[in-house]
Amino acid sequence: MISENFPRFIEILNLGDERGDLIVLENNRNIPFQVQRIYSLINCKMSRGFHAHINLMQVLVCLKGQCDVVLDNGTTKATVRLDSMTKGLIVESMIWREMHNFTDDCVLLVLASHLYDEADYIRDYDVFLKMVKNG
Ligand code: TYD
Repeated sequence: MISENFPRFIEILNLGDERGDLIVLENNRNIPFQVQRIYSLINCKMSRGFHAHINLMQVLVCLKGQCDVVLDNGTTKATVRLDSMTKGLIVESMIWREMHNFTDDCVLLVLASHLYDEADYIRDYDVFLKMVKNG
């Protein structure tokens, strides 16, 4: 699915106080799907991603440090810097994504709408473009 606004973000409230930061991510509230899987990219030494998903939807939140995310819907490419725990990047299905320029301290949290399934991956960019073109 290609959003009208691309890329789309969710605003995450920081409920922190003098004790520190606190963010909350909730199914079908600020996260626009039922979360089935959570994973994190930490200590990333090089660019990652370079794939799209057929059905999976994700939200990316940079909890610490920063990184750049390239999103490509087959016609439009956007580069987004993730550098705040209050900014969630929505990555819908059929979006080619690449993550670059991770700072050493970057902690990237990923919320996913489905369990891991290699069959849902499109790892070849030309195949991705053909699939977008063919609807
Ligand atoms: P991959 O999604 O290709 O990493 P990235 O897009 O961040 O570069 O995943 C790397 C490896 O880890 C790949 O062999 C699949 C495996 N993996 C799982 O088993 N479960 C998961 O939830 C994820 C995200 C990856």
